[in-house]
Amino acid sequence: MSSAAAARPVIIDTDPGIDDALAVFLALASPELEVIGLTSVYGNVSIEATTHNALCLLELAGRGDIPVARGAAGPMASAYRGAIPHIHGDDGQGNANLAAPAAVPQAAAAHDWMYARAAAAPGQVTLMALGPLTNLALALQRYPDFPAVVREIVLMGGNALCPGNASPAAEANIFNDPEAADLVFAQDWPVTMIGLDITRKVVLRPADVDAIVSRDTAPARHLSTALGFYQSFFASTNRLDGLFAHDPTAVAYLLDESLFNLSRWPVCVETEGISRGKTWPYVGAGGDEAPQPWRQRPPVAVATEVDAAAVVRLIVERTC
Ligand code: BDR
Ligand code: CA
Repeated sequence: MSSAAAARPVIIDTDPGIDDALAVFLALASPELEVIGLTSVYGNVSIEATTHNALCLLELAGRGDIPVARGAAGPMASAYRGAIPHIHGDDGQGNANLAAPAAVPQAAAAHDWMYARAAAAPGQVTLMALGPLTNLALALQRYPDFPAVVREIVLMGGNALCPGNASPAAEANIFNDPEAADLVFAQDWPVTMIGLDITRKVVLRPADVDAIVSRDTAPARHLSTALGFYQSFFASTNRLDGLFAHDPTAVAYLLDESLFNLSRWPVCVETEGISRGKTWPYVGAGGDEAPQPWRQRPPVAVATEVDAAAVVRLIVERTC
């Protein structure tokens, strides 16, 4: 009998965020993954709130031992656009107002911390990015060998062949820091983009939410408040009977890649005008065939299709 594969070490870079909370709980509940740390980033709420939430979520899951490093307070080249309380609540967690955590963040900033952890085990650490890509871009700028020490990047963000959600053109995580995202897509390292093309198809229906929150655990009790708030947002704005599981879908990719179809396209990010934050793939033949500015770019694995029912099952079975 073959022994179980070793758990894959993962750092989750996150702006919790209600779907981030679901993603973190899913990752923590999955033996295939070893969550070695969370790095916070501004986004759904301020960096103070996302850092607080990251610490609280780990404590709720009984994993207050996992380190949290505080990250960027705003984008690299523009001002932070501010929180989105109508989607995630004033606190980022559906107004659950989680109590002060016992743990405190690491002394090191997120981009230094994630580099140090990756460099300590070259080629092993996966970065799961669930917010604006500012921390990753800062690490790229400071540490030229960062791409060489990271195993791969799996990010929730972008929209290849479909409209955005933060603007008609752009998805929220990329919209928050297009310059950082463009740096990440320009690097020669393995990047998988789990974007709106598929995450809008992964819908947790009320019965799915009920199945998760009815469990007798601290994370489930928290999600009962948080997911209720999130569902109300989608009901009122998207007329959706359920919620988009954006960030948990990126975790599901690490758990079972066979549920996803990927296309390998170079990606550039628009940084100007009304399409700021739009992720543009070049979908023709690559290499010298590609026009500028795509020609010099390495291909990104862009998720284009998903077995949404199977991903929903995975999220519901595992979370909490
Ligand atoms: C992404 O934006 C954030 O609001 C969510 O947490 C998710 O990471 C979806 O566009
Ligand atoms: Ca997020």
